[in-house]
Amino acid sequence: MASETGTAETQLSDGTLLRVEVAGRDDAVRYARIALDAASGALAATTKRRERERDLSTEAGIVGRSGPMQELFRVLDRIRGSNATALVLGENGTGKELVARAIHRMSKRSDKRFVATNCSAFNDNLLESELFGHKRGSFTGAVGDKPGLFSVADGGTFFLDEVGDMSPALQVKLLRVLQEGVFMPVGATEPKKVDVRIVAATNRDLQTMVREGTFREDLYYRLNVVQIRVPALRERKDDIPLLADFFLGRLAQRDGRHKALSRAALDRLLAHRWPGNVRELENEIERLWVLSGDEGLIGEEHLSPALGRGLVPAVTSSSERRPAPTDEALEGLTDKSLPDAVEALERRMITDGLRAAKGNKTRAAEALGISRRNLIRKVQAYALDDVGRERS
Ligand SMILES: Nc1ncnc2c1ncn2[C@@H]1O[C@H](COP(=O)(O)OP(=O)(O)OP(=O)(O)O)[C@@H](O)[C@H]1O
Ligand SMILES: [Mg+2]
Repeated sequence: MASETGTAETQLSDGTLLRVEVAGRDDAVRYARIALDAASGALAATTKRRERERDLSTEAGIVGRSGPMQELFRVLDRIRGSNATALVLGENGTGKELVARAIHRMSKRSDKRFVATNCSAFNDNLLESELFGHKRGSFTGAVGDKPGLFSVADGGTFFLDEVGDMSPALQVKLLRVLQEGVFMPVGATEPKKVDVRIVAATNRDLQTMVREGTFREDLYYRLNVVQIRVPALRERKDDIPLLADFFLGRLAQRDGRHKALSRAALDRLLAHRWPGNVRELENEIERLWVLSGDEGLIGEEHLSPALGRGLVPAVTSSSERRPAPTDEALEGLTDKSLPDAVEALERRMITDGLRAAKGNKTRAAEALGISRRNLIRKVQAYALDDVGRERS
């Protein structure tokens, strides 16, 4: 049959043209078989890659399937078994501690201890004694010898959270542990030697701190051997439904009942910017779980006001202006005198602006539509200096 001839072609991404000329039924069947083989091969490879990614996510105990998370899992996989110091960077609530635990779990030290401490939770003296321990009588209240967390973590992994908040004096001491593996307990005369793998984390911009002279450059390079950036939730919105399901599943297990999100509620979760990242989402889901009572399908009416009604997006960049306040934002203001209400609203908007800008006054001022100098004056007047810098 003359009609059994034809041509098929496709162009590869590099411009190469592939062309098949079919002249008869046998040819057609042969080429179709080759095409099917190629397709099934490609499908098998994709399935295998997906399975591997799912395995890594499970192994790490970190939920996520989005591109940025797959990249993170690949890094975790690559440094598996390594002893290298790691620096985990990311905004508040992105899962830095989870990543640090995964690094430990996937290392050769996994049968040893994972010890964590938060460098911003103590004053300098307390942190030094917490990290390096002290000798009895070395200061008032030191009634006995105390080993210090570096000793406790010997052989294992030590997670130094908020390392950007460490004082210059302690930075020197930490550098010594990293360089020589030794430290001096408070009040001791002999240094102690330990074998500790350090994973440090911070939500601060260490490079800028180095430039400004508040963080030691040599320490920065010692910590920054393997750098892992944990993406903000707004950079991986695909993960929101997955994370919501994960948290709902955990609550379902706890309470022995099931609940699901309505489409409208999920849409609102997807539209939010999540300045508090996964922690904020986790809290929101718990809140929804409680507030929805006996309902099996969680409706959007239970969402917290912070998620807006699609009208009040959080301040995102300097070019975005804050829209006019909604009725919700005015709640509790209308029963005050006008001057008091104006003051309360001003304070509230400045607080929100500073939080959204993570305490960056230039960005907050731009978003609020006032000058930086004006903002600083108001921040002082309302004693809001620490807003946006506080930790949850
Ligand atoms: N990918 C994730 N999958 C599951 N749970 C997550 C994920 N990321 C974060 N979480 C949960 O969110 C909360 C915050 O995570 P984590 O404490 O690791 O964040 P963080 O970056 O250390 O925050 P912070 O900077 O505030 O200390 C935890 O309860 C954690 O279990
Ligand atoms: Mg943390």
